[in-house]
Amino acid sequence: MTAVEARQHFTRSFGGEPTLVASAAGRVNLIGEHVDYNGGEALPIAIQRRTSVAVRLRAGDRVTRINSGGTGGVLMLDHGQLRRRKKWTDYPSGVLDQLIGAGVDVPGMEVAVASDIPSGSGLSSSAALEVAFGFAVQSLLGLDTDRVALALLCQRAEREFVGVPCGAMDQLSAACGEPGQALHMGFAPVMVRPVPFAETVLVVDTAVPRSLRGSAYADRVRECAAALSAIQRIAPEVTVLAEATTEQLDRAEMPDVERRRARHVIAECERVRLAVRALEGGARFPGALALESHASLRADYECSSPELDWVVEYAMRSPGISGARLTGAGWGGCAVVFGEEHALEALSRSITADYAAAIGSRPRSWLVSADAGARLEG
Ligand code: GLA
Repeated sequence: MTAVEARQHFTRSFGGEPTLVASAAGRVNLIGEHVDYNGGEALPIAIQRRTSVAVRLRAGDRVTRINSGGTGGVLMLDHGQLRRRKKWTDYPSGVLDQLIGAGVDVPGMEVAVASDIPSGSGLSSSAALEVAFGFAVQSLLGLDTDRVALALLCQRAEREFVGVPCGAMDQLSAACGEPGQALHMGFAPVMVRPVPFAETVLVVDTAVPRSLRGSAYADRVRECAAALSAIQRIAPEVTVLAEATTEQLDRAEMPDVERRRARHVIAECERVRLAVRALEGGARFPGALALESHASLRADYECSSPELDWVVEYAMRSPGISGARLTGAGWGGCAVVFGEEHALEALSRSITADYAAAIGSRPRSWLVSADAGARLEG
């Protein structure tokens, strides 16, 4: 329990008890990849992996003292001089920067963080940290804690302070998750709607570290913007790439790379709508859509990796598995696998040794299901 850890860790770092502990969730996207920054639709779940933040006000100065339990000890975030340091404290600093920019007078605080979301694996550990920290601070100061508004504030923190041009999917998942429900999201305008999802899925971490900042993510954002501009030259009424039709894409002139990126985005949104319709009709998640999504991400979006492709192919050779795909940004990180729970359990046992033999490193895997987003811990 990361809430208990954050509390213990707080007492060790600062003495006494925190005023409150808040937490937010990691996420697994079921389908709808690389569509959030294109105004499309996605279907993630918040998962049982969480980040907890224990907080207490501290009189005297406007400095936040923060400790994650790592080797760094207590770090100081001076509210008057917040700056990017290229380390984990950039996420809470970015959230402080947004709150202060919105006119909130944030007093000094003591903060302890604990998390069981592996960082750099595509389960949105950074969004969970931003949202848990933001939720803790807003609760401590008695501010409005509307979850969608908080998620969008955290997304701005990541874009403007951390410098990652991400969409809003991760922060919305970390904030708005609900047990037993997937989240049908729209991004233009922002909309979050629960869709019943009682399945367990298997997440396989390929254990190939990946960082959004160092990856081709920003290139994809630029390529999609260029594809949109090309489409707007023949169809000025199109405002976001996800809204374009295949026919408009065919008529627009653009380089092949941009055309393939756009083709993925348009088809992926249709797959999200099909998946939502299936779940709302009481069916299990359609594994075939996951496979189509993965094929499109590999060939058209070029964000898979040999290890992710290996996991998807291996999973599909296992009995009782209906589908698999990379989840999150890609270029390493995690795959999500769909199927009957006993088949997922069997796969999680068999894949470890076979992956190690084929790839040379040990994958980690977890069975997860839809869980709560941001919450206060008792
Ligand atoms: C990362 C970003 C998200 C989203 C996914 C890809 O997780 O933070 O906004 O773009 O990649 O779907």
